[in-house]
Amino acid sequence: SAAEKGGHDYFMLKEIAEQPQAVGDTLLGRVGPDGMLTLDEMRLSDQELRDISKIIVVACGTSYHAGLIAKYAIEHWAGLPCEVELASEFRYRDPILTRDTLVLVISQSGETMDTLMAVRHAREQRSRVLAVCNVNGSTISRESDAVLYTHAGPEVAVASTKAFLTQLVACYLVALYLAQVRGTKFGDEISEIIGWLAETPSKVREVLATMEPVRALARSLADERCVLFLGRHVGFPVALEGALKLKELAYMHAEGFAAGELKHGPIALIEEGLPVVVVVPSPAGQRVLHDKIVSNIQEIRARGARTVVVAEEGDTAVEPYADTLIRVPVVPTLLQPLVATVPLQVFACELATAKGHDVDQPRNLAKSVTVE
Ligand code: G6P
Repeated sequence: SAAEKGGHDYFMLKEIAEQPQAVGDTLLGRVGPDGMLTLDEMRLSDQELRDISKIIVVACGTSYHAGLIAKYAIEHWAGLPCEVELASEFRYRDPILTRDTLVLVISQSGETMDTLMAVRHAREQRSRVLAVCNVNGSTISRESDAVLYTHAGPEVAVASTKAFLTQLVACYLVALYLAQVRGTKFGDEISEIIGWLAETPSKVREVLATMEPVRALARSLADERCVLFLGRHVGFPVALEGALKLKELAYMHAEGFAAGELKHGPIALIEEGLPVVVVVPSPAGQRVLHDKIVSNIQEIRARGARTVVVAEEGDTAVEPYADTLIRVPVVPTLLQPLVATVPLQVFACELATAKGHDVDQPRNLAKSVTVE
């Protein structure tokens, strides 16, 4: 009913709108007034956390994209080697799992069969399993050694939105907590980031308040056959997620690429009028990557691409090459996915709606896939 959807036409719209609150709820009670993190649910002693030598993140779908972003945070802040695996591939190889390996599984539902099987496999090899889940008491949360709940509230729409943002926050907390306990790089940057995390609900709210041009753009592209997404660094998984949303909801051919790979293939796809969404890294945080991607935008535009550029406020370098410019607030580089993903969710949702699709129940898809 309309009431269940909080006055929105679709659960997905409601869930997109709930993101500032959801992100705040993930942080709640986990950041002390002194800026120190407490993650009681970790259930691993400080010594055990110090003994970890490697992290393997395992997940499916949108949760896998959260895992890809987690890798950047874990390597940078916690200084630990980190691999990210699709759950459906993980246990069919011979992953090197030891007692010192922390397996971080990410699952909104906590019921995805491939991810559950990965949990069982990891535990059989005596690795520790930490789950990031949204649904309390779900199978994965019960079978893992420890669970960090995202507290996003129920997510009904098949395509994940608020669960994704809260998974990111939970993963940032894990990376920062490991940094805190292990003493790696702990200092100014870490406490500064913890301060920024507290600002993210309002940053996401700012993005949501400026989405009307994105919706108009989506409607204007409803008859396109294909959309490409490019990104670098944490913007690369954001590009993958933007493309996944468009496949799921609009049944449109959409691909995400690492912008540095353009010259190794994807640039051959560029033709007159092809919409290409580019997620631009912060010019302050990632000067080199920023400048490289600005050249990429020039290259694809020279070949006829219609460029849709997602860039931080104040980034004037992109202006001459953007057919459409989507502004996101300035945040530290590693946190940019929290603000840069939101326009891509809105874009896919609106485009699918313009095509007449039910965004809550896309064809052929299930909210949680409980078969392998
Ligand atoms: C399904 C859903 C996706 C979700 C994926 C993983 O494919 O449609 O939105 O990302 O499962 O689900 P999980 O509950 O494990 O995060």
